[in-house]
Amino acid sequence: MKKKKAKKAILLIVVAILLSIVIFFNFGNICLLIKGYGLNELNKLNSVLSYSQLIQISKNDYCDNIELIIDDENFCADNAVEYFNYISNNSVNDDIKTAIKIVNYGIDYPYSQKLATIVNDPYYINDLIDRYINYDCQDYQQIVQSVNCSIDYPYYTNTKPADLSKQQLVLVNKYNYLDPNYVPDDLVSVDLYHSYSGNSLERVALDNYIEMHSAALNDGIQLILFSGYRTYQLQNELWTTRSESKGIEYADEYTARAGYSEHQTGLALDITRYDSDDIQQAYDWLENNSYKFGFILRYPKDKENITGYSYEPWHFRYVGTQVAYQIYQEGITFDEYYAYYIADK
Ligand code: DAL
Ligand code: ZN
Repeated sequence: MKKKKAKKAILLIVVAILLSIVIFFNFGNICLLIKGYGLNELNKLNSVLSYSQLIQISKNDYCDNIELIIDDENFCADNAVEYFNYISNNSVNDDIKTAIKIVNYGIDYPYSQKLATIVNDPYYINDLIDRYINYDCQDYQQIVQSVNCSIDYPYYTNTKPADLSKQQLVLVNKYNYLDPNYVPDDLVSVDLYHSYSGNSLERVALDNYIEMHSAALNDGIQLILFSGYRTYQLQNELWTTRSESKGIEYADEYTARAGYSEHQTGLALDITRYDSDDIQQAYDWLENNSYKFGFILRYPKDKENITGYSYEPWHFRYVGTQVAYQIYQEGITFDEYYAYYIADK
């Protein structure tokens, strides 16, 4: 009789232990079931998440976007708990994709339409998130490109020396300047067939300009260079003369202040048509063909808010054929290209 009782007790203990083990290992799932998750959802969650992640997720309210989250191309299992927390805390219901990006970038800002537009911009740079958010601009589509190009700072503030190590891709604009003594190291003067007198260019820019000149001639357009390399002193004279006659605001729209002109690099060319006939035809030809020779239209129409200059259909900048082609294809300015593809690389 005693033996029978003992056996029963042992059996009970074994069953209790087994039951505890089962409950213990499924505790997360049990919690999730209680929160309202179905079996399919549990399977999905179990297929990618660890036990402790399941437990943590079960602390949030039910989330009915499991599939969208886990199947998203940017889903990363390590961030799973943060996705659920972010989506739940910010009540993100219909923009799971963006919420996942926000978490992956490690962004602390709450979800908003402004933030969503920013992180979905193809030229988004994560290091600039605080400036993007703080930039007061109602057109959210403009924020990334503007901040990338430092437009959130007034012109000629937050300036720094141009990074000459980038060589033919050096950026010189209203925020990046050249030393007054900077003179490019391979300047050559341009002959009078290709240029009005007194102009010089960096050799690489000249060689490619000559090729472009002859291609344009084949199409019936004779080009002529009217301004190439300019010294700091010449640029200073140009800007000062202009600002004295037309005012500072006007001068700043068309002429760089001394040190801030890419003409000082020897890589910028102001080009016109020799016979002055149908100048627009020449500008159109240059705009659509110059990339083949490594040149870009540096101050395009409708990009004044990015370049800081009015449209200059005559001003071209040598950057090399590969970069010129990409800039032409993507329809961006050199300032944007530089921020995204070159700076800090
Ligand atoms: N016209 C251009 C902006 C310059 O002065 O460099
Ligand atoms: Zn120019």
